[in-house]
Amino acid sequence: TDSVITIDPGYKNTGSCESAITFLDGEKGILRYRGYSIEELAEKADFLEVAFLLIFGELPTKEELEKFHTDIKAQSVVDEDVRKIVDAFPKSAHPMGVIASLTSALTAFNPSSVNVNSEEDMYKAIVKILGKFPVLVAWTLRKKQGLPLDYGDKNLGYVENILKMMFKQPNEEYILNPILINALDKLLILHADHEQNCSTSTVRIAGSSHVGLFASLSTGISALWGPLHGGANQAVLEMLEAIKEDGGDTAKYMAKAKDKEDPFRLMGFGHRVYKNFDPRAKIIKKAADEVLDNLGIEDPILDIAKGLEKEALQDPYFVDRKLYPNVDFYSGIIYRGMGIPTDMFTVMFALGRLPGWIAQWREMRLNNEPIGRPRQIYIGETLRPFVSIDKR
Ligand code: SDX
Repeated sequence: TDSVITIDPGYKNTGSCESAITFLDGEKGILRYRGYSIEELAEKADFLEVAFLLIFGELPTKEELEKFHTDIKAQSVVDEDVRKIVDAFPKSAHPMGVIASLTSALTAFNPSSVNVNSEEDMYKAIVKILGKFPVLVAWTLRKKQGLPLDYGDKNLGYVENILKMMFKQPNEEYILNPILINALDKLLILHADHEQNCSTSTVRIAGSSHVGLFASLSTGISALWGPLHGGANQAVLEMLEAIKEDGGDTAKYMAKAKDKEDPFRLMGFGHRVYKNFDPRAKIIKKAADEVLDNLGIEDPILDIAKGLEKEALQDPYFVDRKLYPNVDFYSGIIYRGMGIPTDMFTVMFALGRLPGWIAQWREMRLNNEPIGRPRQIYIGETLRPFVSIDKR
């Protein structure tokens, strides 16, 4: 029957599912994972604990967390053939393209699609991707920097070893910096899930065709890459750099952002759901101050960011539209302080969002949700007869 179809561009007022994973209140700026506040988790938990919480629904006991980490470490090696794929990419390849391809490649190397009703099968796939993805991320960075690929050190913590795989210099003892480890741990926690955002919805709808977990994740990486979504953290730094080149002329960029003729937007500002401060942005801004202070980095970019935020929060255009700094506004400043290149920022976002994508994919499959297949309202040509080419 031709039931009434309403079009809702961008699904601004459409719910796609019921979910028990993440709660957002955009008016009040509240974010909770499985009922725990993001403020408490960022302060008191570590990233692997939060990954376990998002995926399995409860904070792990000490034994569960140790087993989780041990099982993940056992998977933190990548097929030698994947190394060849990494080497095949030109230096100019964008890391998000590399990591999306490598994640798809993992599917090709693990074709058996997961039997989602087998706890054991699911657990194996989950620890496999949580073990391999950070290696792929580190390799993507090392490839760019012409450094040898490195597995780091299995005796280190999960996030600690990510930093080691990324930054260990050949023949140099890796200097563990608790400030950086703590900052990265916090950033990954803050990026871990965000209910039905663009990339998570992509993972869910791809997975609804019952394609495997890794292939579904690969679609989420591509969606996250967009500058309106996770790609914004790279776009923020490029914008702040441009403002710095322009002698710190923030007024010019504010005017561009308000000019309807100009497609430029103030990157790192605004959000579909938060019509208040993004709670993650508050925590990341504080962490940015701490990291740069502790590293003794005087980064003019941070001052420009703070100046821009101050102006925007007083500007009626932004105030009327409830445009506040979002998660992407300050995160790049920390990544930059860590020595991570700008075009790797969105890969770091994907690294953080991985557990959320896994949790959401698993929930969708365990709920036996039907394949995603929206309808449309047709506005094209009515029926017309074919015209042979010599008469066109
Ligand atoms: C993420 O959804 C999530 O949860 C995503 C995320 C997650 O964790 O998964 O939180 C991560 O993607 C954060 C957002 C990162 N993106 C950016 O920082 C890019 C810049 N921001 C915008 O492009 C925009 O704010 C969006 C995409 C984030 C939200 O867009 P909406 O909800 O579709 O809002 P809209 O485009 O309809 O804008 C409403 C009004 C418009 O003006 P009017 O037509 O009413 O006159 O606000 C204006 C827009 O022009 N506007 C901006 C603006 N964002 C919105 N104007 C200038 N600069 C901006 N950044």
